[in-house]
Amino acid sequence: MLLRSDNKYRPFILTRSAFAGTQRYAAAWSGDNSAEWGFLAVSVPMCLSMSIAGISFFGSDVGGFFKYPEAELMTRWYQAGAFQPFFRAHSHLETKRREPWLYDPPTTMLLRDAVRRRYALIDFWYTLFYEHSKDGLPVMRPLFMHYPMEEATFTIDDQYLLGDKLLVKPVVTQGATSVKVYLPGAESGTVWYDVDSYQAYAANGYMSVDVNLSKIPVYQRGGTVVARKERVRRSSQLMAHDPYTLVAALHGNHTAYGSLYIDDGETYEYKKNKYIYAKLSYSSEEMSYKFVNEKANFPTRSWVERIVIAGIKVPPKTAKLHQGDKQTALQMTLHKGNDVLVIRKPAASMAQPWKITFSY
Ligand SMILES: *[C@@H]1O[C@H](CO)[C@@H](O)[C@H](O)[C@H]1NC(C)=O
Ligand SMILES: *[C@@H]1O[C@H](CO)[C@@H](O)[C@H](O)[C@H]1NC(C)=O
Repeated sequence: MLLRSDNKYRPFILTRSAFAGTQRYAAAWSGDNSAEWGFLAVSVPMCLSMSIAGISFFGSDVGGFFKYPEAELMTRWYQAGAFQPFFRAHSHLETKRREPWLYDPPTTMLLRDAVRRRYALIDFWYTLFYEHSKDGLPVMRPLFMHYPMEEATFTIDDQYLLGDKLLVKPVVTQGATSVKVYLPGAESGTVWYDVDSYQAYAANGYMSVDVNLSKIPVYQRGGTVVARKERVRRSSQLMAHDPYTLVAALHGNHTAYGSLYIDDGETYEYKKNKYIYAKLSYSSEEMSYKFVNEKANFPTRSWVERIVIAGIKVPPKTAKLHQGDKQTALQMTLHKGNDVLVIRKPAASMAQPWKITFSY
């Protein structure tokens, strides 16, 4: 595969049979499943098992390989698959066709929504995979990995964390109108923010969450910054230089931290320092974007389109962007109902470090 491009491009190899060590060469999938609710449900513990066994780039055939997924099953499968490391719709040659646009229009809309959720987080996934390549920690993690003192998490395998930032509870039963979600971290006062509403929930073990067909319970942990790309494109390649929306979900002490990795997405130039690995941090005084390796750089044309700060109790009066020797006053909008502050169009370039200072 490397020789095909004279060692220029990183190969993508997918394998069905894998062994310890395979993760160095290939992604893997869970093999021939069926379009049945039970196979959807078991895809989550299968991904988790493979993840903690070292194979992070893993997923199940979305929709099921054998048989035909009716609209509700297909919807739930896309929604679950969109939050699994390897996301692919796939089926047996002789099954009925099931491209998203072959379903009724409301279903097509829901499938489209699931795919858009996936791609909005594509840089978040890429950063997790970069960090995985450095420290070996799985991309998709069981709750007990970050909450080892919480006994209740030891047996939970139907929900999980992405990195240490997002918590996902796929809906894997037919006709579900509510699901039980376990929010860990009660002892340390952890707050979880519903990613759809930015509504904050204090961790307190299990809670019941109402779901309809469009709802996927996903939460961002308070204390984290997640980078999103929200413009809709035909491919991830076309998204490469798209602007970011940075979502800072605040910890009770008004801080949040995140990271972002950017490179050309296809070659080995990152080995020659053509990449950006940056830390994002927020405090009441300032938000900053700093390169971890200052010798590395990548000429991204991406910029910051929006910063969303969730869980803000005392909003700043002014915000000022500092980049290079330029200073720019920024506009903000406060959404009182859910304590969300939106900084509109900071327009900071992601090719260079920046900071935003706040005054009260
Ligand atoms: C699900 O509920 C939300 C919030 O009430 C609503 O906006 C959405 O249209 C509902 N979706 C479906 C498919 O019923
Ligand atoms: C806020 O809490 C986080 C998580 O416990 C901690 O890592 C950070 O150092 C705290 N920051 C401050 C300023 O207290």
